[in-house]
Amino acid sequence: MARRPKVVELPALGSLDRSAGNLARQLTVLLRDAVQRGDLIPGELLPSSRFLAQALEVARGTVVEAFSQLLAEGVLETKLGGGTSVASSLPPTPAKGKQARPRALATPLALTGRATQFAEVAALMHPLPHVPFAVSVPVGLAAPDDVWRRLGNKIRARGPGAPASYDDPQGIRVLREAIADYARRSRSVHCTAEQVIVTSGTQQGLYLSSQVLLEPGDLAWVEDPGYRGLSAILENTIGHRQMACIPVDEEGLDVAAGIRTNGAARVAFVTPSHQYPLGMPLSMARRSALLSWAQKHKAWIVEDDYDSELRYAGHPFPALQGMAPERVIYLGTFSKILFPSLRLGYAIVPPGLEKSFIGARILMDRHPPTADQHVLAAFMEEGHLDRHIRRIRNVYAERREQIIGLLHKHIRRSSAWLQPSDQGAHLVLLLAEHMNDRDVARAALKRGVSVRALSPMYSAGKARPGLILGLVDFPYEQLEAAVVALSKAIKSCA
Ligand SMILES: Cc1ncc(COP(=O)(O)O)c(C=O)c1O
Repeated sequence: MARRPKVVELPALGSLDRSAGNLARQLTVLLRDAVQRGDLIPGELLPSSRFLAQALEVARGTVVEAFSQLLAEGVLETKLGGGTSVASSLPPTPAKGKQARPRALATPLALTGRATQFAEVAALMHPLPHVPFAVSVPVGLAAPDDVWRRLGNKIRARGPGAPASYDDPQGIRVLREAIADYARRSRSVHCTAEQVIVTSGTQQGLYLSSQVLLEPGDLAWVEDPGYRGLSAILENTIGHRQMACIPVDEEGLDVAAGIRTNGAARVAFVTPSHQYPLGMPLSMARRSALLSWAQKHKAWIVEDDYDSELRYAGHPFPALQGMAPERVIYLGTFSKILFPSLRLGYAIVPPGLEKSFIGARILMDRHPPTADQHVLAAFMEEGHLDRHIRRIRNVYAERREQIIGLLHKHIRRSSAWLQPSDQGAHLVLLLAEHMNDRDVARAALKRGVSVRALSPMYSAGKARPGLILGLVDFPYEQLEAAVVALSKAIKSCA
């Protein structure tokens, strides 16, 4: 546990009234009040009389007199190793003390519509416990090896990751260069380091895109079903009515339906490599249709490429961005290939949009932590990321086979079956139409299994029940126990 500071700061003592005389008595009263209010708690060490006298600009004797009075009253005591503290024998003041939880309000706060929406997002996107089948839990061989820790220690202690002042809001140059190179090699993305903006994950990339590309009254396409982390942003920026929910079929986003119903949209948000959540790639014909629509209407495409590195069969489609770098904002993340708590990702933006993204970025949080960026840049430059991806691809492929086998073994096909997919960091288990997937997710959690419900990812009236299961490198026995528990949770809700 972290060590607590030895002496407390006492803002309340600043209110000595020099014209009212007898400063020692005033100080006695202020200190006594501070203890009664719970600003000072039993056992807490006070500043030394010399330090306090200097800070309050009074004679040291004034402080000594006040301390003596309170020692005599039993409010203060002298510590064994020296120093004066609040008497440990005093009863705590829970209602007013620093540790006290604020009491529930008698009348609920009148929240604005936006505040209510934010609170709903907090409930919806609350992270799941790190047990099977939470998405992207860096355990076992899926965790970066010791090189990551060693690089981190070295770079933080003496290298460029040592404490420094504000840094480049676009992200440090070495990392942007490493990202541009990586995106070109792995995803056929066309860009220079000037077009890369380091983000704190794709979530921020989506938020920045919404801020930069959309104005009130603009229409935006989202996939139906789609990522709630995106639709919640748009509900908040352009509003629910300006969001065109475009259906998804076995070829991915139904571009023709989008053009037919909402052809005047300003932005299309898509997950072309691996539709989130259902998992199919956007077909070549649909890619061409989407790009020619965007070019014709001067619309933007935001390509969320959240987990395309994790492919288990066949050859990946290259990124859409490579086919139209001037129309596509490409978003990548290190959450799935390294670990989510790193909070690093990137936006690759068309020439001309860089400054707008950087400005929006500055207003949000200036820039991601510089030290982490340096560690990641070194990890990429030294070739560790490529090796790590090759390793986790094999690990996930094996676990994926095991999980699929266990689902077939323990769960009856009449109640749940897998949505076909051959890539990514999750599986989708569709549930029989009559089932309530939120109930199943809750029942699973009670049995120690983390799954997300699929239905909240659909627009109103379109939902179908299902569960999102993250691929995780837990031992086989633990996976089997989790599938058995999940099977019981499904039965309990059938
Ligand atoms: C489709 C999709 N987009 C974006 C994100 C956000 O990723 P990040 O952790 O990079 O913010 C996720 C996270 O699961 C996701 O599933």
